[in-house]
Amino acid sequence: MANTDAGILLQLKERALTPEDAAKLVPLSIEAGWNQMEADWTFMLQSGEGKGMTDRAGRFAACALIVPLGPAVSWISMVVTAKPWRRRGLGTRLLKDRIADVRAAGKVAGLDATEHGKPIYEALGFRPLWELSRWHVKRVPAKAALPPGVELRAMRRQELKAIAMIDKVLTGLEREHVLRHLYARAPGLAYVATEASRLRGYVLGRDGRFATQIGPIVATDDATARALAARAVASAPPPFILDVPDRHKGIQAWINEAGGEAQRHFWRMTLGDAPGLAEDRPIFALAGPELA
Ligand SMILES: CC(C)(COP(=O)(O)OP(=O)(O)OC[C@H]1O[C@@H](n2cnc3c(N)ncnc32)[C@H](O)[C@@H]1OP(=O)(O)O)[C@@H](O)C(=O)NCCC(=O)NCCS
Repeated sequence: MANTDAGILLQLKERALTPEDAAKLVPLSIEAGWNQMEADWTFMLQSGEGKGMTDRAGRFAACALIVPLGPAVSWISMVVTAKPWRRRGLGTRLLKDRIADVRAAGKVAGLDATEHGKPIYEALGFRPLWELSRWHVKRVPAKAALPPGVELRAMRRQELKAIAMIDKVLTGLEREHVLRHLYARAPGLAYVATEASRLRGYVLGRDGRFATQIGPIVATDDATARALAARAVASAPPPFILDVPDRHKGIQAWINEAGGEAQRHFWRMTLGDAPGLAEDRPIFALAGPELA
């Protein structure tokens, strides 16, 4: 296990992050090639917490965040070190600290790991549950047919609480705050699928630095998930990104038809048992690797 390079700690200052740090953290996610905007950092630091290391000029060298997802799980998020400071133990140090916080709260830590992060997480005891891919879509895919009897309509703000309760049962995640944030960011991307007034699925999304993120998509079946995705992508200009669990081949085939490409791979991992997250849940697209 890597120890932090001792000299580095003389050059950097470690401190707790606040939502006011959001603008100064954006360069870290840009350098990593990620899609987050200042609004994402602000939301994660308002609903969660984190620590960062700054250089003498006050620029961020590294950070790691936690976004709580109910009493059982916290999501480790935005683990990133600026390129000049990598491979000196900062990532491991900040991560160990976040893990200690999650454990102190009696929770299980979950995350979606990039290929850069996976070896570090494995060394700290995280184990992979399932895999997913980030799909980039440059043009609007074809409409997708709805199953008979299923209808799509715009999501309403006042039904978010009820949707969050169903979402908890279906996904094992407690994330009403996440759903509310996404709805507030992009109400025009939020749709529900119903059958005889009963909820069959939902989609939300948000704007991003280089693409509109479509997700989460949670649905009872593949066809409903595709129809929700098709409705959302018809509501915003391309390009889009969707983080799709690899087991959902139907929605991938539909994205493929539109010339979509899988450009990144992620591993969903937990440190400890979280049965609700390991199961084959009807999650057709994530809210994002940083939000589960
Ligand atoms: C993943 C990431 C955060 C790691 O940050 P980091 O500060 O370089 O992490 P560490 O220094 O703790 O560990 C990285 C490597 O350096 C090695 N290392 C750490 N301290 C070292 C030291 N003092 N001397 C030599 N090597 C060291 C570690 O063993 C590890 O080796 P490995 O890559 O062979 O497993 C960083 O690469 C990054 O920001 N990547 C892009 C964003 C990303 O993918 N984040 C992960 C999201 S899941």
